[in-house]
Amino acid sequence: MVDRNYLEQVFSAFLEIEDKELRERSEKAMAMAMEQGGWNEANLAGAPVTLSWKGCDVSWIEHVTDVTQMCILEFDQMKKYYLRHGIPFDRDVVVAGALLHDIGKLTEFVPDGKGGAVHSENFQLMRHPLSGALIAGKAGLPDNVVHLIATHSFEGERSYQTLESDFVRTVDIFVFNCSVKGLEKY
Ligand SMILES: [Fe+2]
Repeated sequence: MVDRNYLEQVFSAFLEIEDKELRERSEKAMAMAMEQGGWNEANLAGAPVTLSWKGCDVSWIEHVTDVTQMCILEFDQMKKYYLRHGIPFDRDVVVAGALLHDIGKLTEFVPDGKGGAVHSENFQLMRHPLSGALIAGKAGLPDNVVHLIATHSFEGERSYQTLESDFVRTVDIFVFNCSVKGLEKY
């Protein structure tokens, strides 16, 4: 099993999840995704955020870090509006969801043995929102986190969205679009 201390070193935001059980299950889900896809401490840096854009040099670690940090910054800035209106907006769900929204990419893309990645055999059947949500469920994460993972990409365009899933989804789309600006799609 991938060492949880390693995950906390790569993504210090795990330590921002106050609910201990949620933090442990979140770390377990990321470790399960790594193992299912064949990623480990030695090769995770080679995991890409996409294989669909020519010249995209953003890694999976960089993308997940950026989305999570932006979510935390924006949440802490924006929560005043929700507090003012008494609307529940859960920081732990936002942080866990941001960290885990793309764990399915660790099974959609697999190591190529040369420091990079290729599509997995069943990547079309099990796109990352689906594979990620399944792994999250198996790790014992609550429905609101599983839902957030399942609906964060175009699969969720017509879906009901919680406040937290809509928030992470919006930040993710913005960050991803920044990383492929000016690039050509394969
Ligand atoms: Fe993402």
